[in-house]
Amino acid sequence: MAVNTASVEFALNPNANPMPEADRLKAFENLGFGTLFSDHMAVIRWNADRGWHDGEITARAPFAIDPAASVLHYAQEIFEGMKAYRTADGRAVLFRPEENARRFNESARRMAMPEIAEETFLEAIEKLVQIDAKWIPEGEGSLYLRPFMFASEAFLGVRPAKDYIFCVIASPVGPYFKGGAKPITIWSTEKFTRAAPGGTGAAKCGGNYAASLIAQAEAQAQGCDQVVFLDAAEHKWVEELGGMNVFFVMDDGSLVTPPLGGTILPGITRKSLITLARDKGLTVHERPYSFEDWKADAASGKLKEAFACGTAAVVAGIGTVKFPGGAFTINGGETGPVTQTLREALVSIQRGQSNDAHAWVKPISGV
Ligand code: PLP
Ligand code: COI
Repeated sequence: MAVNTASVEFALNPNANPMPEADRLKAFENLGFGTLFSDHMAVIRWNADRGWHDGEITARAPFAIDPAASVLHYAQEIFEGMKAYRTADGRAVLFRPEENARRFNESARRMAMPEIAEETFLEAIEKLVQIDAKWIPEGEGSLYLRPFMFASEAFLGVRPAKDYIFCVIASPVGPYFKGGAKPITIWSTEKFTRAAPGGTGAAKCGGNYAASLIAQAEAQAQGCDQVVFLDAAEHKWVEELGGMNVFFVMDDGSLVTPPLGGTILPGITRKSLITLARDKGLTVHERPYSFEDWKADAASGKLKEAFACGTAAVVAGIGTVKFPGGAFTINGGETGPVTQTLREALVSIQRGQSNDAHAWVKPISGV
């Protein structure tokens, strides 16, 4: 579908009943992930006749959608995940937001949905962060931004819908994992796969996550934080976790991460860490790595560290891997030094504390 490149304005309709400051600050005292929401949302609609229209920044509120809306039946939905940070010198910044805009449109193409002009996507984010700037926690927290789009046409035939709603909501967050910075435990599922060649694995569509939930529930039942998926064809190659990409640190100091082949999400954190690792003179191989090698290399000491990475999770060391019939630990179950170094390099750029050599950080004006 053609991109509507006309720049679209977002009318400002401030929330008449924002959360009182004392309540907000109280809620900030114990931030988890994704349970608290800011006062506003950005909304814009699309139909075949008008393209993108009626953009507004308005009070966060439920949608009224028809029970026949196609998203409720055929799951035509995509989303993004990004964060706004409050820097020590008081700026509000985003990290590589144009990468999210680009990936959103790649997801839209895969799901036969309309693309949105990058400027409109970024405008929605910026305006929302401006109006809800006080919702960006200071210190280690951040304001998680969730742009998403869904098919709102009331129609039960199976074809791409003709009406869509794009929305951005914001959620102040602390650590994604309950254990905070502690290494995480991973469950390798035997029965379930996430994405097959030709499928939607590289798109950030809700359906991928729906399909992963049974395996994530299995992981939790095993006492693990996250599930790791192997490839669908051979059930041999490590792909990614339910909501994160994965890296391995070998004894020669090199890093290995599964290649982007259409079945995993092209993570922006993954891409950034590859650049930062290479900046530090480390070799990074984007190559297939089998679960059998993971197990054997952890036992022999050839594998030194493993970590998960993503916007929500940041960089999290993997301490233990469980699988049907066994388990193994990596680096004695501790977060390793390479993981730690890369995490610090990334976080210090995101939070405006170190030289941003690649110009990844985008300040938001006026807040
Ligand atoms: N893989 C999956 C399945 C994800 O949901 C995410 C999170 O967005 C990632 C990887 C990491 O992507 P990013 O670093 O762009 O957040
Ligand atoms: C993100 O990291 O932004 C995601 O979308 C992953 C999800 C598990 C929260």
